[in-house]
Amino acid sequence: MTNILSIKNVSKVYHTPKGEIVATKNISLDIEDGDFVAIVGPSGCGKSTLLSILNGQEKASSGTINYHNKTIGYMLQEDALFDWLNVLDNCLIGLKIKGKLDSDSKEYVLNLLNKYGLKDFIYSYPRNLSGGMRQRVALIRSLAIKPDILLMDEPFSALDFQSRLNISNDVYSILKAEHKTLVIVTHDISEAVTLCNKVVILSKRPSYIKKVYDINFDQNTLPSERRNTPLFNEYYQLIWKEIDYE
Ligand SMILES: Nc1ncnc2c1ncn2[C@@H]1O[C@H](COP(=O)(O)OP(=O)(O)OP(=O)(O)O)[C@@H](O)[C@H]1O
Ligand SMILES: [Mg+2]
Repeated sequence: MTNILSIKNVSKVYHTPKGEIVATKNISLDIEDGDFVAIVGPSGCGKSTLLSILNGQEKASSGTINYHNKTIGYMLQEDALFDWLNVLDNCLIGLKIKGKLDSDSKEYVLNLLNKYGLKDFIYSYPRNLSGGMRQRVALIRSLAIKPDILLMDEPFSALDFQSRLNISNDVYSILKAEHKTLVIVTHDISEAVTLCNKVVILSKRPSYIKKVYDINFDQNTLPSERRNTPLFNEYYQLIWKEIDYE
């Protein structure tokens, strides 16, 4: 496997009127092509900070990130769809902003919408969709610019349990089919274990990497099928014990 994202000794210090907040300290991580990586850790430890740095929204205070010429896409918390745009226009907005909307890129988006069950909804407005469908639209929107690596920060936290299970399956199938690499921040250990092949545990702040677990499920099983298996329970227990809950 080849590295497509190399994080080396990344630290982040926020300077605030009340003093310095050291968010992350010397984070090093290699992410390989096709990896699905979950980042877990206690609240406030610096997970979103790390993702914002990867995304380029925040600058690391020290350390380096090598993107190996790969491109990054970002799916926001909640779904952040625009209420006044229909599904298709929501999915095209990123391309428009980047000046990359042409017949080919539009075709690519329409194809994704068709393929992933939104064919009959392209002219519908977000308010008329279920939570799970909205998430699929948001996912397709972030795929429209054809990123190699997709970053997600707690993308499903607003959904009910059943919808979370469904969207987990959708994300898994869609991103595998489209050959993407995923880095997802989540509070939910079950989600991390069932969706990802690597779980990175951050310590409490200032966060460093406490441990990285390789998760080995049969690649042809869906996240929902991985739940309640003995292997799932094993991973769950291991990871739960490592997280510094206060
Ligand atoms: N823009 C900012 N300016 C100053 N401090 C910040 C800023 N963003 C985050 N912090 C601080 O950095 C630390 C890490 O925050 P971050 O949001 O990355 O944690 P998190 O792990 O994502 O938390 P949660 O699990 O609650 O989402 C916190 O102490 C937070 O208050
Ligand atoms: Mg956060």
